[in-house]
Amino acid sequence: MRLTTRRFLQASGLFAAGLLLAACGKKDPAPAAATTAPASATAPAAAPPAKVYVVGTDAAYAPFESQNEKGEIVGFDVDVVKAAAAKAGLEVKFVNTPWEGIFNALAQGDRDMVVSAVTITDERKQTIDFSTPYFDAVQLIAVKADSKVAKFDDLKKLKVGVQTGTTGDEAVTKLMGKTSTAIKRFESTPLALKELEAGGVDAVVADNGVVIHYVANNAGAKFKTVSDPSFAPEQYGVAIKKGNADLVAKINKGLADIKTDGTYDKIYAQYFGAAPAAAAAAPAASK
Ligand code: ARG
Repeated sequence: MRLTTRRFLQASGLFAAGLLLAACGKKDPAPAAATTAPASATAPAAAPPAKVYVVGTDAAYAPFESQNEKGEIVGFDVDVVKAAAAKAGLEVKFVNTPWEGIFNALAQGDRDMVVSAVTITDERKQTIDFSTPYFDAVQLIAVKADSKVAKFDDLKKLKVGVQTGTTGDEAVTKLMGKTSTAIKRFESTPLALKELEAGGVDAVVADNGVVIHYVANNAGAKFKTVSDPSFAPEQYGVAIKKGNADLVAKINKGLADIKTDGTYDKIYAQYFGAAPAAAAAAPAASK
């Protein structure tokens, strides 16, 4: 009994000590703040904390945006926009954001920009502002290596996978009709490509860069690509909330700066292995 009581007291003593430590811990920031406060008060040129611009991206779109093993968002878009933003004196932070709803997040102010291999389209321009284009793209068809598909029109009688709400979705919807039940829509492009591998769809239509990257990195899937001249040329831009002309101007200036000083070409070569002009032929080079 005595032992138990002593133990109890010891335990409660430890508990009390713990509380004390916790209290001290809590107090810690206060003296720190107290010591820094006079310093900042006496520093007349103290800059206000810089705004960090939150950039939404659907990071399942390598090589443009994806998550590495550490969970960091990396890719061509990230490097280009970080470099452009730095030139413009803007601090940016990429936040993984599902593609569905990504433009809503922009409209509601949850994101300051959307950088997600976003194609500049007339329809989107009605509700979103865009920077100047920073990348050329085109739709590309992925099929199994033994597929007979030779052109876009051949997909008419087949099951086709797309990422919901992308320009690939738009192209396929136009070909097959709004009410077509043969269009299988996926939350991400890799999910659509996985379904192609599993045999659930006969083809996937998506941006060339992503399809080429996937095919090159998933040899086991045994895919080939089919290009078609009927696909309209596309260009990626930074999407910004409608009316935010100041931010658009800053990003445009940053993009122009990285194009003139060679930064853009360096980033481009890092991801696509050739200067932009030479690589413009890449879609045609795919089998
Ligand atoms: N470029 C296409 C579009 O704007 C697809 C973009 C999808 N991007 C992504 N990160 N999932 O519709």
